[in-house]
Amino acid sequence: MRVPVTESGALDSDKLVEFCGTRPELWVEIGFGQGEHLVAQAERCPNVLLIGCEPYVNGVSTLLRTIEANAIGNILIHDDDARILLEALPEASVDRLFLLFPDPWPKKRHHKRRFISKPNLDLVTRILKNGAELRFATDHPDYARWTLWHALNHEAIEWPAESPADWTDRPGDWTITRYEEKALAAGQSCTYLSFRRRDRPGSPGV
Ligand SMILES: C[S@@+](CC[C@H](N)C(=O)[O-])C[C@H]1O[C@@H](n2cnc3c(N)ncnc32)[C@H](O)[C@@H]1O
Repeated sequence: MRVPVTESGALDSDKLVEFCGTRPELWVEIGFGQGEHLVAQAERCPNVLLIGCEPYVNGVSTLLRTIEANAIGNILIHDDDARILLEALPEASVDRLFLLFPDPWPKKRHHKRRFISKPNLDLVTRILKNGAELRFATDHPDYARWTLWHALNHEAIEWPAESPADWTDRPGDWTITRYEEKALAAGQSCTYLSFRRRDRPGSPGV
């Protein structure tokens, strides 16, 4: 179930195609934690292949138990830093990418560790297809502002939100995550941001 990325960082794309089979879409979740959102999406969309990235070994083992107990056949796991996978995947190969409640690194001197950054958005937008969704959530208002700033200043990303409900309400196909549950129980409100990968110049429909 491990994504076929070699130690040198190369992806065995024949193997990935074999896993994908006839599934028309590939979705990626970065930092799946215990995997509740990943599993719910996999069960809701059996025609999609999902790759979950999570270096936290306890999270991976929880996910493996859930997959086995529920006989889920459309999840692959990348049990390492997501950036290795983002670099290895082919350009314009991913239909949707989820980054839900990433570590907020609230102290200013740690901001550079936040997953949302120009270099990481370059990696993400390279693998997203034109029009693909990048979905982000946080309970940390400063990280929400930070993400909006980075996304709105990135040439390949647009934010099609029209009204406050587009960032205050959970999307319809959402499954509450462990981290989100804790944040809500602590009285924090969450922000849900759904971005769109702009069409590549001269190549609409890639
Ligand atoms: C605050 S937790 C949120 C987990 C889950 N998404 C949720 O909402 O319950 C952030 C997760 O991101 C993972 N993570 C941090 N950096 C990562 C990276 N570079 N690649 C993949 N996962 C990462 C951490 O191990 C952790 O499990």
